[in-house]
Amino acid sequence: MPERSGPSADDPFRGRRPTSHERMTGLPWDASYQDGPAPWDIGHPQPAIVRLASQGAFAGAVLDAGCGTGENALHVASVGLSVLGVDVAETALAIARQKADDRGIEVEFAAADAFQLERLGRMFKTVLDCGLFHTFDGDERTRYAASLASVTEQDGTLYLLCFSDHGPETGPHPISQEELRAAFNPSRGWNVASIEPDRIQTRFHDDGAPAWFATIKRT
Ligand SMILES: C[S@@+](CC[C@H](N)C(=O)[O-])C[C@H]1O[C@@H](n2cnc3c(N)ncnc32)[C@H](O)[C@@H]1O
Repeated sequence: MPERSGPSADDPFRGRRPTSHERMTGLPWDASYQDGPAPWDIGHPQPAIVRLASQGAFAGAVLDAGCGTGENALHVASVGLSVLGVDVAETALAIARQKADDRGIEVEFAAADAFQLERLGRMFKTVLDCGLFHTFDGDERTRYAASLASVTEQDGTLYLLCFSDHGPETGPHPISQEELRAAFNPSRGWNVASIEPDRIQTRFHDDGAPAWFATIKRT
């Protein structure tokens, strides 16, 4: 699909180029949130993120890229950090803001394209990606890594949880360790510190799906 020139009121993509996932499904991400909870929208933070927060791994200003309805961002904010969650799905953001109001948690949610994060005009010490990277194709991963690098402070940390290619019962977008290392390589300002096996809970896996939990440093 061609690049779009400018947003119009009835444009579900708000002027941005649909992602490979949206081109494959024929639907904007927002549609996933319009008819009940999406498969990944489990109503609580991912256990891997809860564990990370309990270890004190989040520091400074935190960005949650592709925050969905905000459970992970809300959890990190609830332990006292300044958190911005961004997403392209306005319906998800509205749900996230309502949860923040209901729970009395101070956290910011904004519409932003993960490929153009520099437009935020802000820098972050810690960045979280829970289930976004694995929705991108090869070309998008390269652009995403550059976009993330533009808003991550030097020596900052990206924590990335994605479906892994080590079965059984792999999730819908299995990623190999090599694909992670290719996207976040030193020439792009990243150093993969560790990649550990983990789980991603979903609404359709009893005990979650196999995942990689990557700790990636901005050099
Ligand atoms: C699989 S969901 C995960 C949502 C959330 N992190 C969670 O754990 O529940 C992926 C999210 O990324 C968002 N997303 C997809 N492409 C995006 C983009 N280019 N920029 C920002 N968000 C995007 C989708 O709208 C969706 O909310």
